[in-house]
Amino acid sequence: MAVTSRRPIVPITELEHSAFCKTEDQLPSKSLAEEMVVNVRWQRIPPEYLHFSPEELDRRIGESREKLGSSVTILGHHYQREEVIKYADFQGDSFLLSREAANRPEADHIIFCGVHFMAETACILAAPHQKVVLPNITAGCSMADMAPMEDVDDAWADLTEVLGPGGILPVTYMNSIAGIKALCGRNGGAVCTSSNAKAVVEWAFTQSERVLFLPDQHLGRNTALELGVPLDEMVVWNPFRQMGGNTPEQLRKAKMVLWQGHCSVHTRFTTGQIDSARALHPDINIIVHPECPMETVQAADMVGSTEFIREKINSAPAGSKWGVGTEVSLVNRLAINNPDKTIFCLDPVTCPCSTMYRIHPAYLLWMLDGLVAGTVINQITVPDDIMRDSRIALERMLSLK
Ligand code: 13P
Repeated sequence: MAVTSRRPIVPITELEHSAFCKTEDQLPSKSLAEEMVVNVRWQRIPPEYLHFSPEELDRRIGESREKLGSSVTILGHHYQREEVIKYADFQGDSFLLSREAANRPEADHIIFCGVHFMAETACILAAPHQKVVLPNITAGCSMADMAPMEDVDDAWADLTEVLGPGGILPVTYMNSIAGIKALCGRNGGAVCTSSNAKAVVEWAFTQSERVLFLPDQHLGRNTALELGVPLDEMVVWNPFRQMGGNTPEQLRKAKMVLWQGHCSVHTRFTTGQIDSARALHPDINIIVHPECPMETVQAADMVGSTEFIREKINSAPAGSKWGVGTEVSLVNRLAINNPDKTIFCLDPVTCPCSTMYRIHPAYLLWMLDGLVAGTVINQITVPDDIMRDSRIALERMLSLK
């Protein structure tokens, strides 16, 4: 049995989470030098990029983008800020973006405007000749950082020892490092995203009587509840405690073992915010992301991925009202694109995802200028063995939807 005892470590990305909380009128981009006063880790960038105004950046990005033509594709996640997403050749949720990365072999370079695990996934699914770059290498994910490989390997060793080979199947949310996806691939498991978690977990229960769900306990719990697994058949795996804080008996009884991770953005959404929104607008629709806590999801009218939220609101009738529980950059974009509807973020404090927000337009320009000059900056690579095994888990996911 693997025996480890560690002191709880809060990922730096989690500590940095509220760094960009601001008022609505502070949201539009400023020069990078002005934004860098915020206390987070920023990747160093050549000094000439620090002082370009937003207008100058916009003009230069357009020019460099044009020079590169179809040799480059820019993929953008819905949480990217407006000044960046406007340059995306394709925007989507993490499922659609992973599929798109696999479907665009004509581009030699993919600039991934999102966070590290997304660029890593694009690299795993892209053709061998394609190079994937992440504009700011410090754009990580606090949830992914809550499941370091060493802790997951220990947990897997403990679980296999208690439950026997095949006694539990690993399923990881896309928001995890490639090594965890590879562990899933090697052990019959799969990756899921918030748009297909139900289908993947349902499939997983046809393969094994138990599922280890990493690293988001909330998505795992919400999904299992939807599939009819009762709460008393779920346990949480706390990586800082022996056996995850469970007895062997509790593990044997459980159907779902939930890694103790969470999203710093979505755990801000509460039932109190939903009550206030309903008190103010009795006819409001509450729509939230499944990374929100169980109580919040259960108090909402609808739950789904960023793409689901976007589609629902875009296709809703004029005059409809929406209180949204997801990242504010997407909510603001929906509000701008649907002026005939009332749309607002349930969280009264404007807190963009602090890692997504680090893709400042200056970093995008730096990537493009590098490619114009024949230099690939910030290329994301994955070791061959991890690439092979994680691709198995990703392809299992892609074949399920
Ligand atoms: P989607 O799968 O809905 O794109 O969500 C990704 C994410 O990281 C949410 O925090």
